[in-house]
Amino acid sequence: MKKDLISIKDLTPKEINALFSLADRLKKAKSMQPLKGKCLGLIFQKPSNRTRVSFEVGIAQLGGRAIYLRPEDVKLGSREPAKDVARTLSRYLDGIVARTFKHNDLLELAGFASVPVINALSDLLHPCQALSDLYTIRKKLKKLKGAKVAYIGDGNNVANSLLYGCSKMGVNLSIASPKGYEPSREILSESLEFASKNGSEISLISDASRAVSGADIVYTDVWTSMGQETQAGKRRQDFKNFQVNAKLLFHAKPKALVMHCLPAHRGEEISEGVLEGPRSIVFDQAENRLHMQKAILVKLLSKMK
Ligand code: CP
Ligand code: NVA
Repeated sequence: MKKDLISIKDLTPKEINALFSLADRLKKAKSMQPLKGKCLGLIFQKPSNRTRVSFEVGIAQLGGRAIYLRPEDVKLGSREPAKDVARTLSRYLDGIVARTFKHNDLLELAGFASVPVINALSDLLHPCQALSDLYTIRKKLKKLKGAKVAYIGDGNNVANSLLYGCSKMGVNLSIASPKGYEPSREILSESLEFASKNGSEISLISDASRAVSGADIVYTDVWTSMGQETQAGKRRQDFKNFQVNAKLLFHAKPKALVMHCLPAHRGEEISEGVLEGPRSIVFDQAENRLHMQKAILVKLLSKMK
């Protein structure tokens, strides 16, 4: 049966660890071509720099070919329903990478496609990001279990996927969001269950400085995600006490590292000084998107173990 990557919820800790090992191997062995002869379609309803380029480059490095489908080519859900797009593209392609607004569109694509579908971000989740981030944290701290991540800001797609990822991998996660901007309640309660099995502590805290207390990693993302642009003014007000800056970092561990999935809005969720400062690992983090996504592609589309 074909396998998709829609949510970290569907992966076991063992499978996530196997992805880390595969990413390490693929990073070293540049000449392996397990996707030789395979063609993938990249359906993007929203803009992208990192995800699109790292998937296109990753597919090429693995010997495959990527076809980028612009939003105006496919018009998912308006020119054609996702289920028709899925069944048509499955007749041509070996896999689909999709970035959608509605998470349900992604589920419909995966449900009707006969080839693997990879979630390249939806309004609900960003699993490739969070898997790469855990890979980055593991590399930087030389461990995952027992590490503490503080996520400051919007309880968005990235926060939701970090909840699943950290709770599966024994990472402690404190999330500080303004009232009304907390992560999905359902995902939080599922993650609390995963956390109790895997030895993580998950907490939702309203005060950012308390959330970063003792943190090894301080993570943030934009206050206004793609598709929410009309709310930007209100969000700037509501999030003003949730900026990652030098004053906030004072409460974290002295050697705490700073992560951001990018693109960053300097002066909003993160100060220029912190983003450009010595603790920031945002470009190593961006690089690891490539290695982790290659591992995901190999796992879903090839026989290589
Ligand atoms: N972090 C991330 O997914 O970046 P893009 O939106 O540029 O792909
Ligand atoms: N939360 C952000 C992530 C961008 C990579 C967004 O959805 O726009």
